[in-house]
Amino acid sequence: MEAKQNITLEQFQYLLARNEADYLKERALAVRQEHYGNDVFVRGLIEFTNYCRNNCYYCGIRRDNPNADRYRLSDEEIMECCHEGYRLGFRTFVLQGGEDGYFTDEKICRIVSSIKSSFPDCAVTLSIGEKTRESYKAFFDAGADRYLLRHETANEAHYQWLHPKELSLGIRKECLKHLKDIGYQVGAGFMVGSPGQTNETLYDDLQFLRELNPHMVGIGPFIPQHDTPFAAEKAGTVDMTVTLLSIIRLLLPRVLLPATTALGTVDPVGREKGLMAGANVVMPNLSPKRVREKYALYDKKICTGEEAAECIECLKNRVNKIGCNIVCDRGDYR
Ligand code: 5AD
Ligand code: FES
Repeated sequence: MEAKQNITLEQFQYLLARNEADYLKERALAVRQEHYGNDVFVRGLIEFTNYCRNNCYYCGIRRDNPNADRYRLSDEEIMECCHEGYRLGFRTFVLQGGEDGYFTDEKICRIVSSIKSSFPDCAVTLSIGEKTRESYKAFFDAGADRYLLRHETANEAHYQWLHPKELSLGIRKECLKHLKDIGYQVGAGFMVGSPGQTNETLYDDLQFLRELNPHMVGIGPFIPQHDTPFAAEKAGTVDMTVTLLSIIRLLLPRVLLPATTALGTVDPVGREKGLMAGANVVMPNLSPKRVREKYALYDKKICTGEEAAECIECLKNRVNKIGCNIVCDRGDYR
């Protein structure tokens, strides 16, 4: 099982066409169980800024959305989220934000090192976009353990369809390579059902993931946001997302695979379906309630009315109901 798994384009097309979802789920679940049992890891998500210099066509906090109600959390507010999270049992904090020039490398390093010194038993994950190798190294030296940077699509033409000219797949891949070289646990990923996506572009994603062999893979359905150029596009489906979760579990047996908030948004039990198809991570929101609705990458996002404590309680119950249990540790790659 541990030998590198592979899949040909023909096999992939065949699995999708024959709708082999149940078979894939069964196999994926067995592989997840072999490596992680029924453990589900939690990461506390802190969405600390929705300012962004980028203009990705799909994203609600893109630079050119004048209706995005912009906010930044102060250092104190971020630390407050961590304290609350720690009390609730979180041992990983994910700092996610737009590419916001206000947060210089110095500021990020300061935030990371104060979290690490207050909570030495916790992992800190950054998800703040494309930076230079030097910046990534500085964050790592300040104590950051992991970095999430979705590649979005591994197909050149598709990448250009989703992004304005100033962004390129080449640079995105280079960032991921730097992150891995530096020693981060790295997460890549993509949206399912994004405009222009085909079985061929998805196959490129799978091949890219096999090569990169990341520690984490974040995938969730594309969901249109009403103030973006993709407002009128169709959302990705639960079924396709779940099938891809299973395939990714089979290709990368030990990968940490979240059942994402976007999956929970397109289906009230989407996250449960994801966990039963091979996912093993959930990422409840630790951001202060007052900013939750403002981090609107897409429409109708769930959990925006909940306090952190309510969210985690709700998730615990949901996870228990399907025979899994939430573990209170860093949840490192095994
Ligand atoms: N629907 C679903 N996911 C989205 N993301 C951004 N916009 C959307 C959307 N409209 C995802 C991107 C990004 C991550 C933080 O959120 O994949 O990398
Ligand atoms: Fe947030 Fe259920 S997970 S309220």
